[in-house]
Amino acid sequence: MKILMVCLGNICRSPLAEGIMKHKAAERNLDWIVDSAGTGFWHAGELPDSRSIATARRHGIDITDQRARQFAPADFDRFDRIFVMDNQNLQDVLRLARLDEHRAKVDLILNQLRPGHNNNVPDPYYDDNGFEEVFRMLDMACEVFVSRQMEES
Ligand code: 4NP
Repeated sequence: MKILMVCLGNICRSPLAEGIMKHKAAERNLDWIVDSAGTGFWHAGELPDSRSIATARRHGIDITDQRARQFAPADFDRFDRIFVMDNQNLQDVLRLARLDEHRAKVDLILNQLRPGHNNNVPDPYYDDNGFEEVFRMLDMACEVFVSRQMEES
């Protein structure tokens, strides 16, 4: 399974999502590839936001090996599933899709918890206290996805 997590900056939410999903896959000895990217280019090459690093670390996950990069159309071929954090990310990614097969790989990550509800993972960039809540949401969504994959395989 190859999974790409996508947000706007690739420094707050999707690095947490990448770290959490990698952690859960490793715990279950699953040989998955998990990566993340941003729809924007502003933060390319940067470390995750220090608040995301600290939040992940509190939960025993190290995300300091990550560097931000921009989402590219080639990612539609490189990954099996593309999980976006909010409806703006969804729009931005789908605008780059040229095939139904590519569109079908893309979904909001919180639809793992409430299918069809299309809920956003709130952008915590301007909210120092938002990071823990974002972690909790992503942890639950990743848990549901991993469990379901294990059942299906
Ligand atoms: P992210 O958060 O999309 O979760 O990485 C943001 C980080 C930076 C900016 C916006 C959102 N920014 O505008 O710089």
